[in-house]
Amino acid sequence: MDLISDLVFTNTTLGRGADASVYKAEWNGTLCAAKRLHEILLEDDSPGGRERLVRNFAIECVTWSKLRHPNIVQFLGVYLERGSLLPVLVLEKMDTSLRRYLEGHRKEKFPLGTKAFVLHQITQALAYLHNQKRPLVHRDLSTNNVLLNEDTFVTKISDFGMSRAISPSAISRKSSIKGTPAFMPPEALQTPPQYNEKLDVFSFGNVILSTITHEWPQPCHLTQYKGDQLIALDEFQRRERYVEMFTAQEKLFLPIVHRCLENRPDKRPSSVMLVQELRHILQSGDHGAPIVRLRQQLTAKEEECRQKDEVIKEKDEELRKANESLWKNEQVLKGKNEVISGHNRALQYQEIKLCEQAESLQKQDSTIRAQKAEIECLRNQLLVAQKVS
Ligand SMILES: Nc1ncnc2c1ncn2[C@@H]1O[C@H](COP(=O)(O)OP(=O)(O)OP(=O)(O)O)[C@@H](O)[C@H]1O
Ligand SMILES: [Mg+2]
Repeated sequence: MDLISDLVFTNTTLGRGADASVYKAEWNGTLCAAKRLHEILLEDDSPGGRERLVRNFAIECVTWSKLRHPNIVQFLGVYLERGSLLPVLVLEKMDTSLRRYLEGHRKEKFPLGTKAFVLHQITQALAYLHNQKRPLVHRDLSTNNVLLNEDTFVTKISDFGMSRAISPSAISRKSSIKGTPAFMPPEALQTPPQYNEKLDVFSFGNVILSTITHEWPQPCHLTQYKGDQLIALDEFQRRERYVEMFTAQEKLFLPIVHRCLENRPDKRPSSVMLVQELRHILQSGDHGAPIVRLRQQLTAKEEECRQKDEVIKEKDEELRKANESLWKNEQVLKGKNEVISGHNRALQYQEIKLCEQAESLQKQDSTIRAQKAEIECLRNQLLVAQKVS
């Protein structure tokens, strides 16, 4: 488990629960959520109570820090505040809780397909927890502990084992039972509570009820008068008024809710079965709203890329044509160069010929001059001879 030393708290509070307040914080430039437990929890006067609380809390931190799953809020480390016994949990920051989102949005703004997408991710996280070497039971799965990112509907479970980490006396101050009462199965409410991972499956049934109806799934009393007879209600019947709110389309979830809310844990489906059932719902019909939206975004991007490709192709064609005409011009130029060098060669040849002619003319000239001199000499000799005779 990492000890974080350089955490900077901002003034923004992300939320407040019965046991803790969560603040927006910054860790080396990364926004994260810092969960600070209420100091009042330390007011445990029983012998060794405080130490037990801190020790249990540390054990749960270690458990959480070992979990790695895309649908589980990442535990980043622990920050120790000066002057406080309780560490601050540093967590991956999400946008909101499923409860807040449900309270802040009408059904039309939260389509059934998106809900199926959210619920499917919760089952994936549960299947991961329940299939660890030593299966982990969350024990406090509620819409409070399911966190969302609003744009993408990426969903993650938070806060596991927290209720166990907090000392029993502290819990008894909050309520006599662990976890969030409306989401708890009967076996967790008995003393001593006996439960296995099917506890989370029951809670998940309530998460579905709440997600479909946008209501807090508060069960009615265990018994009810029918006429003058007092009859016992099973867990599903205790929540029937929420089921009655389901529209025809929402009734798709009814069989799953029914099986998750079975009184007997062994009759409830496993989380792996839930993953498959939710995947089936998600893939059937047009319930994959976020997936559809992502597909539409993908298609739009593909179209954008195709148009850009077309522009690039046109530019390529223009470039090819320009290259072609450049090549042609080069060829013409080459031809012209060849003609010019031909002319040059002919000129050189003519020059050589002219030089030769000039040379031979020079020779002829000097011969003529020599002959002229000879003639002159003969003429002089003739004159002399004439004078003598
Ligand atoms: N990692 C987180 N990122 C963003 N917001 C968070 C994060 N963790 C908790 N929150 C917000 O802080 C609120 C308080 O959380 P906390 O776990 O203390 O209480 P809770 O789960 O709402 O209720 P409970 O008292 O039943 O546990 C949550 O409801 C949620 O809105
Ligand atoms: Mg919580």
